[in-house]
Amino acid sequence: MTGGGAATSVNGVLAELFAAAAHGCRDRSPLTQRLLTDAADDLRQGGVTARVMAGSERDREGAVPGLRFAGAVHRLVLEGRAPGLAKHYPSVGGRPHLPTLWQDALPALTEHTDLLRYRVQATVVQTNEPGRSAPLYGGLLVAAQEAAKAAGRHVPFCVRLLEVGASGGLNLRPHHVGYRLEDRVLGDPDSPLVLDPEWTGRPPADLGHRLRVVGRAGCDLHPVDVSTEDGRLHLSSFVWADQPQRWNRLRDALALAAADPVRVERSAGPEWLAKQLARTERDVLTVVWHSVVWQYVSPADRAMGRAVLADAAARATPTTPLALLVFEPRRTDGDYRFELLLKLWPAGISLNLGRGEGHGTPFTWDVTPWE
Ligand SMILES: C[S@@+](CC[C@H](N)C(=O)[O-])C[C@H]1O[C@@H](n2cnc3c(N)ncnc32)[C@H](O)[C@@H]1O
Repeated sequence: MTGGGAATSVNGVLAELFAAAAHGCRDRSPLTQRLLTDAADDLRQGGVTARVMAGSERDREGAVPGLRFAGAVHRLVLEGRAPGLAKHYPSVGGRPHLPTLWQDALPALTEHTDLLRYRVQATVVQTNEPGRSAPLYGGLLVAAQEAAKAAGRHVPFCVRLLEVGASGGLNLRPHHVGYRLEDRVLGDPDSPLVLDPEWTGRPPADLGHRLRVVGRAGCDLHPVDVSTEDGRLHLSSFVWADQPQRWNRLRDALALAAADPVRVERSAGPEWLAKQLARTERDVLTVVWHSVVWQYVSPADRAMGRAVLADAAARATPTTPLALLVFEPRRTDGDYRFELLLKLWPAGISLNLGRGEGHGTPFTWDVTPWE
């Protein structure tokens, strides 16, 4: 009796986390919201969801067990293992019918309980948002041109791009992406990935200049190898199936990655950055970039990362300049704003270039000093 009661109460806690995750998807993914709401009820009743989540009952809220569950179920659908459920998933051509979603989910949960349990435990929620290439592209144009001006040059610098927390590396090809503005397409109009950046205003740069990227590299604590089916499924499973814009963007970004592979190294940011920054290239602007990473970095890694960057900044010269470009959330007035920030050395330039939605689009260019 006592054991059963304890199991029910830990499932009750987990059910609350599922319900909170369901609430987080309202307005954005009715499919995921419904799946998680019904799964929360099932958990409270000790149904098949409790068996899938066995071993994860005491997960922290930050480990978002509900989203890991939803991702594992989505992956079953993408793999063709849940044909009865697939008809609800637009990512495989289906159309959600929310009143019958749970009854169609149950056979898949029952048939694949062990696989789902394994995946829920073995996987961290991980995304790689290609829409962030749009603010990155604009920021790189500004950086290359401002660094050139500061060095008394007429031609913008070529760029070496170093990304910390690159995930699958989908933002390591900003020069090979197209960016559709009202009057023209920036970047590569023939790219498999053409974004609608939805810009208000424009980057404070001459948009007629091409961005020249002469090197790029990335690291991540948990790199995703998008050259493998497993890596592609991993990233795809965490994009909500009823968000067609994000889904199509990811599909196109994966196609671009297949045509232009870049390996993401397994490493914590500071160690990797120290190695990368030990080498400088004459007449090249080295840009350290990270987007939506800082909140996940431990205090020790943050301090070390700052020290590594400060050391490289002190060594930067007009012919080997350095930039830090970040797109990260900042809490203001109780709300999160995603801001694009740029620092340049030795020019001593420090700018807030603007703000946008977390996925990179839409974005408003609005330059102010970065204090
Ligand atoms: C929310 S994802 C963002 C991925 C990518 N930057 C983007 O914008 O799509 C955060 C990534 O940061 C990575 N990460 C967290 N801490 C890290 C660290 N100390 N060093 C390197 N990568 C880290 C995670 O593994 C994860 O892939």
